Amino acid sequence: MSSRSLVVSQARPQPLDENLISHWLLDRSIAFLNHGSYGATPKVVLEAQTAWRTRIEARPVEQLDRRRDEMLGGAKQAVAQLINAEPKDFGFVTNATGGANAVLRSLQFGRGDELVTTNHVYNAIRQAMRHAADRSGATVIEVKIPLPIASPDVVVDAVTAALTGRTRLVVIDHITSPTAILFPVETIIEACAARGIDVLVDGAHAPGMVDLNVGQLNASYYTANLHKWVCAPKGSAFLWVRPDKQRDIHPNTISHFLGEGLAKEFAWQGTRDITAWLCAKDAIDFMAGFGWDRVRRHNHELATWVQALLTRQWGVDPSTPLDGSMLGSMVTVGLPDNTRRHESTAALQTKLFDRFQIEVPIIDWDDRWWVRASCQVYNTADQYERLGDAVVELTR
Ligand SMILES: Cc1ncc(COP(=O)(O)O)c(C=O)c1O
Repeated sequence: MSSRSLVVSQARPQPLDENLISHWLLDRSIAFLNHGSYGATPKVVLEAQTAWRTRIEARPVEQLDRRRDEMLGGAKQAVAQLINAEPKDFGFVTNATGGANAVLRSLQFGRGDELVTTNHVYNAIRQAMRHAADRSGATVIEVKIPLPIASPDVVVDAVTAALTGRTRLVVIDHITSPTAILFPVETIIEACAARGIDVLVDGAHAPGMVDLNVGQLNASYYTANLHKWVCAPKGSAFLWVRPDKQRDIHPNTISHFLGEGLAKEFAWQGTRDITAWLCAKDAIDFMAGFGWDRVRRHNHELATWVQALLTRQWGVDPSTPLDGSMLGSMVTVGLPDNTRRHESTAALQTKLFDRFQIEVPIIDWDDRWWVRASCQVYNTADQYERLGDAVVELTR
């Protein structure tokens, strides 16, 4: 029996279809295991973007002025269906960072107010929270939730224990960035609602990774990217705001339609290229062609298998239960201790790329080094086996 067949009991995941990578421009000599950072856009979606640009450039004023609502309406309808929300309750933004900034910069905090998040927060959002707090004398409380996490209750208990009478806003990730964990946002939103506390969900990775029901989740604010797991062109994201909160939330760029309602304000943020937003529909249609349930199941099963594969091969503890119950389509695995003899995470990441043609993020989090592997439909099991072996070689 080879050492590899000892590694995992779950069946080796099979691709949804042969050669799916041919739908992307991705360089096939690279094992691209970092869909999570910036996504990757299929060729047909990029072609659709060129077609939208051609159409707009042929009649710039007719398209961007008189037909803007009609064009954006089609894209919004497709997104609304994907995320289970009303088109009037969200607007397009360039990225989740922008969506979170729009909320944090619109709200007024006072001296002594507390903004709560966890140490799994994405660093850009941490900075946006700091900025909002610093301007008003408020404080950011970062709840430490160490790994491993045994169950979703651990996250709920840690966050709720930090809530006080001064908590004004909880910022919680749906799927965390450095640690790739599916957080129990439903329960956290309910617990906050019971205390009258607003929640901003950073769902940067959620659309396309989990079956989303933004309307029913009923957070105060939900922002997410479409350029990650929906595979829209870069610059495609949305901010959903619960109807009772909409009056107070404005885009980062205030323009003509201030005070005329969320949908209208966000539909015009100054002259800009709106084709990444328009292509949200093209991307949704392309991915829906594989069947969203199949895509999500494939990616999730692959991530669960990768967690078992790498933790066993490297002799490290899994960060979350091995049944995959706290994973979406990514998994973060602790690196063996002796990888730390490389000079930095960046140096190790570059070595994996230069020597082994593997693109994967190496992350320094909570005083330990981690690798975060993304699983998209174009990825195959052998690429993670290559990663496992490459790391073993780099520990020698
Ligand atoms: C949890 C989380 N939030 C926010 C972002 C920011 O996304 P963007 O750069 O598209 O704004 C990321 C990006 O990886 C993320 O992982």
